[in-house]
Amino acid sequence: MLEAPPTIHSICCIGAGYVGGPTMAVIADRCPHIQVTVVDLNAERIAAWNDADLTRLPVYEPGLDAVVGRARGRNLHFTTEVDAAIAAADMVFLSVNTPTKTRGVGAGQASDLRWIEASARQVAAASQGHTIVVEKSTLPVRTAEAVKAILNGAQGSGGGKTFSVLSNPEFLAEGTAIQDLEGPDRVLIGGEDPAAIDALASVYGHWVAQERILRTNLWSSELSKLTANAFLAQRISSINSIAALCEATGADVREVGRAIGTDSRIGPKFLQAGPGFGGSCFQKDILNLVYLCRHYGLEEAAAYWESVVGLNTWQQQRIARLVVNSLFGTVSGKRLAVLGFAFKADTNDTREAPAIRICRDLIEEGAQLAIVDPKVDAAQIARDLEHSPVSADAAAGSRPLGADGSWLAAGSPIEAARGADAVLILTEWKDYRQIDWASIANVMRRPAWLFDARAVADAAAARAAGLNVWTVGEG
Ligand code: UDX
Ligand code: ADP
Repeated sequence: MLEAPPTIHSICCIGAGYVGGPTMAVIADRCPHIQVTVVDLNAERIAAWNDADLTRLPVYEPGLDAVVGRARGRNLHFTTEVDAAIAAADMVFLSVNTPTKTRGVGAGQASDLRWIEASARQVAAASQGHTIVVEKSTLPVRTAEAVKAILNGAQGSGGGKTFSVLSNPEFLAEGTAIQDLEGPDRVLIGGEDPAAIDALASVYGHWVAQERILRTNLWSSELSKLTANAFLAQRISSINSIAALCEATGADVREVGRAIGTDSRIGPKFLQAGPGFGGSCFQKDILNLVYLCRHYGLEEAAAYWESVVGLNTWQQQRIARLVVNSLFGTVSGKRLAVLGFAFKADTNDTREAPAIRICRDLIEEGAQLAIVDPKVDAAQIARDLEHSPVSADAAAGSRPLGADGSWLAAGSPIEAARGADAVLILTEWKDYRQIDWASIANVMRRPAWLFDARAVADAAAARAAGLNVWTVGEG
């Protein structure tokens, strides 16, 4: 007889980041009978999750404040008491960061699994009874093996601890996380223990139809996540390569995108040319795939996926170069307004944002950037650019030719544009679609340019206001 799946009463999630926070908030909202505790070592982050002012949550996502507002204090808790939360849990999600390694074996490609390992060890030490351990972070294939090995060590050491390990990758995209979590295309659960799989499926079953809950083996689940991200990123590199060709030939990439997107085999999504993909997942996951292919001796497969990242880097460098070339070959001492720093609209996340490389390249060329983003603060921009901002007063003083590049934080697009030779749009924030180009052009130095790397601005209005306009993918 098949064992009935364990009923889940208490969930612990290790990692209160962009994935763990919103995912657990939605689980708590949809399953009021399950106690959900999100833990993190970062006390500041936990304090922000507990902030009475819901506009100050550490992650900005449309709709997240309402979900947290409903569940927090009822069955959703944020705490730094990691061990107590693990001990009380029937199910523990590992949702810690897994960035690309910066040193040692596999540096620049493999994922750094030290946080996964540390959290698995913590689960091994603090858990009680049977615990279902769910990998939520994106992980290279066969990570579950390492997690299992660590947990098995604890299982053998007495105390009646037992574990089941599942892979349950998260497919939410930032900016639409709540929508994606509430109505996912699919939920993927990989594992070997049918009772544990059923237990997790029953959690999602509170709001996701059973036919959308896919079950696979552990390795297929882990690899599916990397593959989904690699395919999505590949579409962006493909359309960006065509954007460059459109610019050279007089075609328009949006017309091409519309024409190919109506082919039902291709589909219309993920065909927006832009400054290249950013975010914490795409590059990391492709590099992971490249590393795995090489590890298994599949050099051609590795080179194929590597070229998707190479094209993305080229697109960012191409845009910075194009700005310099248009401004008579030099931006030294020139003020450039940068609108948007987040890697996409509707998030405060800047990880791998194309703005970082483009701004760094321009600062390197001696430009004086005035950067504005509705959700990214100056401290984050300073960390990303590895440069402190200059004060607005200092920037208003003399600007000797050949001065070192610098940046300052501006409060609005018009403030950023004051005295600037060019405006660059790097994130597709909705507000940038409605900019009044006549007012902006009025405060700029002439000749003045608009470089719209997201194709969101009203180009006709900008041209009418006397600006030279470059739009990505427009020949
Ligand atoms: C991605 C995946 O979509 C998600 O399923 C996975 O869980 C995590 O990685 P995310 O990085 O949050 O999500 O955002 P996404 O919307 O995929 O955008 C990634 C990058 O691609 C952004 O920089 C975005 O601006 C860019 N992009 C996206 C384009 O340049 N053009 C497009 O057509 C779509
Ligand atoms: P993601 O986008 O995958 O959610 P983030 O970096 O936003 O990644 O979040 C991961 C979180 O995991 C961070 O807040 C980090 O402090 C936390 N974290 C990492 N290791 C541990 C650990 N061993 N115990 C508790 N929290 C951890």
